[in-house]
Amino acid sequence: MPAHAIVGTQTVPIEITLNGERRSLEVSPVTSLLDLLRHDLELTGTKKGCDHGQCGACTVLIDGRRINSCLQLAVMQDGKSITTIEGLAADGRLHPLQEAFIEHDAFQCGYCTPGQICSAVALIEEGHATSREEIREFMSGNLCRCGAYTNIVDAIEDVAGRQRQPVREAAE
Ligand code: FES
Ligand code: FES
Repeated sequence: MPAHAIVGTQTVPIEITLNGERRSLEVSPVTSLLDLLRHDLELTGTKKGCDHGQCGACTVLIDGRRINSCLQLAVMQDGKSITTIEGLAADGRLHPLQEAFIEHDAFQCGYCTPGQICSAVALIEEGHATSREEIREFMSGNLCRCGAYTNIVDAIEDVAGRQRQPVREAAE
């Protein structure tokens, strides 16, 4: 029997925390995290664009860091915490970045939007949203074919500014 046929039928057990919920899964060693999310777990908010690490449509948060899920094998996620666009809203309320994208008209077709928002969540956490130039630079891995870039930067700047505000006020 050829080696690839054996690999094709094997599965490997992993445990992950997915959108705050502990999950025990059996995954194929050749399945990408993106395919695990979209096809096996039916979390289709995460989008497949290039499938080659070049468009950012598949961006999710792994242990709080933004990662292109098409470049990650599912088996490598054992013990990790993964957040997709489906996990950002809490207590029946959209995440502030989701609200800001709506307010600022920051999407047209919406295909790139989940990846843009996941990336923006980490960008703000990283402290890399202090100016429009910095936001543009650090969001450059997320492509938007509709060209909604100006409004995407507006939305991120808005949320980053609001999060800095209490710190500034406390210091005054
Ligand atoms: S689908 Fe992963 S970067 Fe394009
Ligand atoms: S809103 Fe269409 S690709 Fe970005």
